[in-house]
Amino acid sequence: MRSGAAPAPRRPWQGRHLVLGVTGGIAAYKVAQLGRDLTQLGALVDVVLTRAAREFIGPVTFEALTGRPVFHDIFEPGHALDHIRLAREADLVCVAPATADFLARAAAGRADDLLTAILLATRAPVLLCPAMNDRMYAHAQTQANLRHLHQALGYEILGPALGPLAFGEGEGPGRLEEPDVMAETIGRALEGDTPYRGRSLVVTAGPTREALDPVRFLSNRSSGRMGFALAAAAWRRGAGVLLVSGPTLLEPPPGPRLQRVETAEEMTAAVRAALPGADALLMAAAVADFRPAGRAGQKIKKEAMPTAIDLEPAPDVLVCTQDAWPRGLAVVGFALETGDGLASARRKLKSKNLDLVVLNSALEPGAGFEVDTNRVVMLGRDGREDALPLLSKHAVAEAVLDRLETLLPKRA
Ligand SMILES: Cc1cc2nc3c(=O)[nH]c(=O)nc-3n(C[C@H](O)[C@H](O)[C@H](O)COP(=O)(O)O)c2cc1C
Repeated sequence: MRSGAAPAPRRPWQGRHLVLGVTGGIAAYKVAQLGRDLTQLGALVDVVLTRAAREFIGPVTFEALTGRPVFHDIFEPGHALDHIRLAREADLVCVAPATADFLARAAAGRADDLLTAILLATRAPVLLCPAMNDRMYAHAQTQANLRHLHQALGYEILGPALGPLAFGEGEGPGRLEEPDVMAETIGRALEGDTPYRGRSLVVTAGPTREALDPVRFLSNRSSGRMGFALAAAAWRRGAGVLLVSGPTLLEPPPGPRLQRVETAEEMTAAVRAALPGADALLMAAAVADFRPAGRAGQKIKKEAMPTAIDLEPAPDVLVCTQDAWPRGLAVVGFALETGDGLASARRKLKSKNLDLVVLNSALEPGAGFEVDTNRVVMLGRDGREDALPLLSKHAVAEAVLDRLETLLPKRA
């Protein structure tokens, strides 16, 4: 979402009711972006402003961004039961920014305005995103309030992040988390209890680069979008995710741990190191099949241009790590073909000992590399083959995870 591209409606936000509470902190302006992103992801966002929040940002901004009325006055004529209705309808209540004062009132169980009353009346999960001056945050009373809100009341606390603070106050913990981090964390809470909760997944993404000399390399057109979408969706469903990625310009998704690699050899080593304890391995990376047989130590001069490049096989990550696969590991391979790939995908399923192969075409418009959409066929070890329509890579990722659910190892 940091790329500026408008997010499209999708799971798990689509059709979900969110109460977005905004309190009187300087970071309230950032929450306008969050309200817009959540709305574009398909959520029904009811914004509730405290009196102090209205000193920082007006209701009209949120009304225009969410397309819904904004609430702020518990005593507004005709709206006497708003706090009960909003509390009951909510699938989640998020407060961002949550001021020190709001945390104190919430920790004390006060209900002296619409937002605190909603907190007491709701049974939905609550996410608080504190933001304040670093000394206010470090104060023993604020820390005690946060501990109580988390440990005794079960509220999730996100942030504050480290970084430059307002009023030239230097760096410190106190910044509101970025809108995309808040939106993804809301997504993870909305997913609730899924078969992925507590699981450990390794996802590979992007191309690899195989050097010819210090400045030139062989690579491919993989953008990393499919692997990044898988990693993000698995994290939202509750998994711990390591995303092993070749070079890509994509903004990493908040949540998964990212390990950047360059070559097929580095990717093999990173996957091998991550396998102990893993429940699933999803190989969405376009790993080089071959690489230059030798790497020149210096940039090859124009005058010394070779007329041919000797190639050798690059390590095959699946083959080279198979001895380290933990018992029951669910393994998903991706196959990219330029022709009718069904036969070779069926062969890959067997020869590489996979549970699922996701086949996509490099030549079909809107599918394969460098686009946001994909058309895939999923081939399972059980013989089931599902041909999906042209979908966004996010939707393909969800479909792959839906299918993988039943293939995960039994819980100990
Ligand atoms: C310019 C300005 C910026 C403020 N920024 C913050 C802030 O970032 N975090 C915070 O906890 N309080 C901040 N405050 C103080 C709150 O606005 C004040 O405690 C208010 O009572 C909070 O009310 P509320 O929690 O009901 O919204 C700021 C006050 C001013 C005047």
